[in-house]
Amino acid sequence: MSDEVGFVSMASGKAEGEAPRIGVGMLGYAFMGKAHTNALKKLPYMIYPPAAVPRLVAICGRDQGAVSAAAQRYGYEKYYTDWHQLIEDPDVQLFDNGGANDIHAEPCIAAARAGKHVLCEKPLGRDAEESKAMLDAVTKAGVKHMVAFNYRFVPAVRQVRNLIESGALGRIYHWRAVYLQEWIADPDFPMVWRLDKTRAGSGALGDLGAHIIDLARYLVGEPARIAAMTKTFIKERPDGKGGRAEVTVDDAFAAVVEFENGALGTLESTRFAPGRKNHNVFEINAENGSLRFNLERLNELEVMWRDGRRETQGFTQVLITERHHPYWEHWWPHGHIIGWEHTFVHEFDHLLRAIVNDAPIAPYGATFEDGYRCAVICDAVLESAASGRAVEIKY
Ligand SMILES: NC(=O)c1ccc[n+]([C@@H]2O[C@H](COP(=O)([O-])OP(=O)(O)OC[C@H]3O[C@@H](n4cnc5c(N)ncnc54)[C@H](O)[C@@H]3O)[C@@H](O)[C@H]2O)c1
Repeated sequence: MSDEVGFVSMASGKAEGEAPRIGVGMLGYAFMGKAHTNALKKLPYMIYPPAAVPRLVAICGRDQGAVSAAAQRYGYEKYYTDWHQLIEDPDVQLFDNGGANDIHAEPCIAAARAGKHVLCEKPLGRDAEESKAMLDAVTKAGVKHMVAFNYRFVPAVRQVRNLIESGALGRIYHWRAVYLQEWIADPDFPMVWRLDKTRAGSGALGDLGAHIIDLARYLVGEPARIAAMTKTFIKERPDGKGGRAEVTVDDAFAAVVEFENGALGTLESTRFAPGRKNHNVFEINAENGSLRFNLERLNELEVMWRDGRRETQGFTQVLITERHHPYWEHWWPHGHIIGWEHTFVHEFDHLLRAIVNDAPIAPYGATFEDGYRCAVICDAVLESAASGRAVEIKY
């Protein structure tokens, strides 16, 4: 069997000569379906030579007109209106779940049982129990599994991880993270799936908080205990049919966390912060200095060193666009900045390399184990908010 890029043996997942092709089946064609497809298309010519060439086999959605239009627009060979058919398609080797949170677990578990590798958007499940079932399914099936915590793949964030791993920062004292948006501050903003607990699992917590919880684990380490409060500011919204619908999730949360390594952290997320578009910001204060990252300035890091050799009095802004910086060998001459969408290119490259070379997703990619652990912490936030007590994190 061969094709124009030199397909050799997908059964072994190994390339002999040219890169193998990996058939992708995509669930969802909206925000994430678009972002993921954009990355899959860019990958083979920007990450060159690619470990594998994604083949856009099929895309799935419920509305036939909309999903067929999406298939044509994005370049998928086929479309389905039932995800079972997507998973049954023998040409699909990687199942990519960019659907809403209530459509994460069942299709991912079915895909794993069918022997497909699985990428799932965050949050993995709607709670820890659902996430554990997903983790168990992929583990049992022996397939590659990854949660789309794409902020791990921002060059500046990976640079922070590298600096921590190298020991340059020394002991970490503080982690301070906020993820703030504004899009439901208007009380007349209508009910959507993200405001319904049965569909979303939680509100700002699972939507935005999951990202900063994952970054906290990725960069600082495991939390030992957490104390939190949640708030639902607007309890009813227009249902879009002339009536009202109850909001059943948190609109915001704030938490204090103690890490196993003794660091102290804070985490806060809301979708009620007028003026904050996608304000995903963290700061680390450590023995040898401090680092600050702001997603809306994702090519930059604010750095302060106090190690005697290169001491600065305050923060210095550093462009993370040098060729030796993470992922930069694939892009442009330094200073020719990249954007949010490129994090998904790095993410898929990591996943395809793991599939082709049978290499681990961890520690730089988030596995379903990471997705499950994040869900345990989200559940602990809700438990602490309900009880008014700190909760020990137990996986
Ligand atoms: N990594 C990130 O930065 C990031 C950003 C936004 C969203 N997300 C996550 O991605 C997921 C999708 O979010 P979104 O913003 O794309 O949502 P969206 O509402 O824009 O799209 C949801 C998609 O799911 C599809 N869908 C829902 N139920 C379905 C079903 N039963 N069968 C087939 N298709 C179905 C819809 O047709 C739509 O294409 C969520 O889990 C969300 O948390 C991640």
